[in-house]
Amino acid sequence: MKQLVIAIDGYSSCGKSTTAKAVAAELHYAYVDTGAMYRAVTLYLLEQNIAFHDLAGVERALHELHITFRRNRRTGRNEVCLNGTIREDDIRQMRISNLVSEVSVIPMVRHAMVAQQQRMGRKRGVVMDGRDIGTTVFPDAEVKVFMTAEVEVRARRRQEELASKGEIVGLDDIVENLRKRDYLDSTRAESPLRRAPDAVLLDTTHITIDEQVDFVLERVSAALFAP
Ligand code: DC
Repeated sequence: MKQLVIAIDGYSSCGKSTTAKAVAAELHYAYVDTGAMYRAVTLYLLEQNIAFHDLAGVERALHELHITFRRNRRTGRNEVCLNGTIREDDIRQMRISNLVSEVSVIPMVRHAMVAQQQRMGRKRGVVMDGRDIGTTVFPDAEVKVFMTAEVEVRARRRQEELASKGEIVGLDDIVENLRKRDYLDSTRAESPLRRAPDAVLLDTTHITIDEQVDFVLERVSAALFAP
């Protein structure tokens, strides 16, 4: 069977990673959460006390840090590792969400992450979620989906996710964070968040996770069995 690249882009907290993970499991494809990579760089810079405008420091950090993914056999979760240590919970904290868009605008950071993502997907058979997969990382992806949802709905989902990990955050703070990230992600010069002209739009405001997954799987079937 032909191995595809499935690119799932869109706004923060639309259910991209939940959908992408389920699609990857269904197809026995690899799953790459590219947002986790930008979060891991942000965490590393903070821990090393490297200011985001210190480009020599950022360059050094990009040489020092190794981002990998490891599947946790107990939970089935794909966890991000920074220099060999699992840091999944640390990268999801609000302090990282509040700063990650400032790091992901840095061209040097984007070049390094995009190159690593292209290496990870070069054998195809991969579902990748992010902001620029269908436009920059894999413009030749066979399936491209662009996800969106109303900001209040996204904020409530994010609030529940954080609460399930013991982090209680007010809805207004989350709405503000999502709006700020959407703005910074869409207006940056280097590979901004943009719907690729050939990406199909998926609005998840009123649909369930199962419906989102079915929607993507239908596109996959269409790509696999197209004449
Ligand atoms: O998907 P996420 O919310 O975990 O992503 C965190 C941040 O990383 C997001 O605000 C923008 C950035 N990002 C990016 O610039 N490009 C990607 N391909 C993925 C994420």
